Amino acid sequence: MQLVQKNILLAITGGIAAYKTPDLVRKLKAEGANVRVILTQSAMHFVSSLSLQAVSGEKVSTDLLNEEAELGMGHIELARWADIMLVAPATANTIAKLSSGFADDLLGTVVLATKAPILVAPAMNQQMWAAKVTHQNCLKLADLGMKLIGPASGEQACGDVGYGRMLEPEELVLEVIKHSSMKDTPKLLKGKRITITAGPTREAIDPVRYISNHSSGKMGYALAETAVKMGAYVTLVSGPVTLKAPKQCNLIKVESAEEMLEAVLNDIDRADFFIACAAVADYRVDNIATQKMKKNKDDALQLKLVQNPDILKTVASLPRPPFTLGFAAETENVVNYARKKLTTKKLNMIAANDVSNPELGFNSEQNALIVLTRENERKLGQASKHSLSLELLKMMETEYRFQNKTNNLQDAVK
Ligand code: C5P
Repeated sequence: MQLVQKNILLAITGGIAAYKTPDLVRKLKAEGANVRVILTQSAMHFVSSLSLQAVSGEKVSTDLLNEEAELGMGHIELARWADIMLVAPATANTIAKLSSGFADDLLGTVVLATKAPILVAPAMNQQMWAAKVTHQNCLKLADLGMKLIGPASGEQACGDVGYGRMLEPEELVLEVIKHSSMKDTPKLLKGKRITITAGPTREAIDPVRYISNHSSGKMGYALAETAVKMGAYVTLVSGPVTLKAPKQCNLIKVESAEEMLEAVLNDIDRADFFIACAAVADYRVDNIATQKMKKNKDDALQLKLVQNPDILKTVASLPRPPFTLGFAAETENVVNYARKKLTTKKLNMIAANDVSNPELGFNSEQNALIVLTRENERKLGQASKHSLSLELLKMMETEYRFQNKTNNLQDAVK
């Protein structure tokens, strides 16, 4: 339950994806949220206010000029009530109106009157999404501080295939969770410098082939985004992923483990913290072929692999290392293996996760961690990677202060 006591104002506009919104409301409520719904006139053709009232347990608002609601200044009351506003589905017409500040219906008025973050989930035909004017309107929305989430690509109700599908209800819920936790993010890392590695590495075999792994980079990017929100200066050293890095961080893109090590060492002198979240390939090809390798008559091909440098261990062994937080993705004996790594790599903290569960870890939206220090062990139960990032960074900061204090005391008695 990650939205307990959060007030989510869901505005539904007139697109076919509106039929998914009762399920969206149910899923938001399952996370503990209070949900109120605004239904535009055209949305009422696709979903009934009665269904939405039944699932939300609240009266649905449909009109700006409703005498009963406006007795209590309904639109201002809704605007103030919301912790987060979600417009889903948002049609091309709604996006155009919101980008120009129209206030000729309840939705437009509330958008102007609210101080809550506004998330907009576009849903439209792929040609309408590709239209230049829609693109310009979306840029305007972003400039006005609204956050676009989606659209996704795939088959559409009209039979077309392409970008324009509304994100699925569970994806929308994750976005709401992400933004609600960000809104209240404490600035515990203000002014601190953090270097984070993320994603996989690629170890070339020849100019067109490589060895890699399934790391999506989602956990490392979630950590980078959260650390920025907590006030840190973040350097994100990232292997090849398809994610967008937070604007405020210093992104260094690398491919191989050796490049990752070099980028980290160039930055590490100034770092207070080093978080090794990347899934670094343990081995690389000894002699990378300079030309594309050809198939030969043999059934087998032998590649000689040599061990890559351990980036985390290298950093932790520096004469004046930053606070080090490692990750241990394991399929069995999770805690034992993680504790061994904590000791052998001389880390301050390690976050272990069980990747034998396909719902968690690599490529998934959720994760669950067991966080170990030399003295302590704490479980962070299954949650979105963003919520976990916040909890983990808070623990890291507390531990950093505690270990620093202990070191200072030990120095004093020497
Ligand atoms: O030993 P193992 O690969 O399981 O350790 C995992 C931790 O070490 C992760 O934090 C990972 O980012 C880091 N690591 C590294 N360089 C390597 C291998 C792992 O920084 N070559």
